[in-house]
Amino acid sequence: MADIPVKYEGLFHVINTAVFERRLLDELCSLATRVRAVAKTRAGARSLQELGSNKRAMLYFTQPSTRTFLSFNNACHLLGIRTSEIRDPSTSSEVKGESFEDAIRTFSSYVDIIIMRSRESGRAASAAQLMDTIKRPVPIINAGSGSDQHPTQALLDIYTLDRSFLERGGIDGKVIGMMGDLKRGRTVRSLCYLMKCYTSVHLVFIAPPDFAMQDDIKKFLKKQRISFIESDELEEVLPELDALYVTRMQSEWDQRGESKDIDLSKYTFGKEQLDTLKPDAIVMHPLPRGSEIEPLVDSDPRAMYWRQERNGMWMRVAVLIKLLGLEESLYKLSPVVND
Ligand code: NCD
Repeated sequence: MADIPVKYEGLFHVINTAVFERRLLDELCSLATRVRAVAKTRAGARSLQELGSNKRAMLYFTQPSTRTFLSFNNACHLLGIRTSEIRDPSTSSEVKGESFEDAIRTFSSYVDIIIMRSRESGRAASAAQLMDTIKRPVPIINAGSGSDQHPTQALLDIYTLDRSFLERGGIDGKVIGMMGDLKRGRTVRSLCYLMKCYTSVHLVFIAPPDFAMQDDIKKFLKKQRISFIESDELEEVLPELDALYVTRMQSEWDQRGESKDIDLSKYTFGKEQLDTLKPDAIVMHPLPRGSEIEPLVDSDPRAMYWRQERNGMWMRVAVLIKLLGLEESLYKLSPVVND
């Protein structure tokens, strides 16, 4: 029987990683690993489906999504949670002029949890605030809000880092590079906040000067005494990294096509960079990718992004288990040992 982690109390919504604590991250990683071990057998998969069979979830995704939508959808189904979805706002009563608040309140009448992605920053936070004022509140999970936060991506990134460094003392003390459009990438922003939960992590930001990490994050890191440097030369910093988190240009936020003018060849990872990368370092990417990671990197054992993508489903199952209070029922199920 795996060790049962200390239960973290007090999580109702998942909106903003700045408020998360190490105990919660450790518990979610343990839950994800446990679920994955239980799901390996047919009997285990069947009992997982029982856990959430009286629950319903709303997937309200009005901004494009492939992985986050599919992984949440499959995470719900792994737990037997029934799902409803709105992906196209033109099919909801918002076209009749219904307010966002009334739409969210309506969803909450039918389901036990709302998972939402929006183009506007702060939308999930507003939905959570609204829930906190009504009689039958349901948890809100932010599945990406504008260019500010993507908390469940950051959680699956932590799970991936944690698993990759299992034999090397975990995430503490590691040098983590983040490269690409750091200004508008919500994944790196959310991940930076979680670094406060680990000791002696050193961050290296590699970005075109016009797309550098924003000041609010840098201020947060300074306040938390998390060391970081900024560079626009991958070659110079690459040999020091334990992990490189690559991101794409977020050109959907361009006002005047500004990201088209950048020479992105300096922020690309290919064969040459693989030769410089430490033998035990990893390469991550939240996906989808543009041309910033050459496909030939995929077959290198240090390329972690496809595993990272799959980890997303297990971490999202863990988040659902936590929010629906199903942890104890999960720990009663037998896992396949030696996972
Ligand atoms: C990310 C997102 O939506 O922010 N994708 C994802 O959820 N895996 C990253 C991106 O779109 O660049």
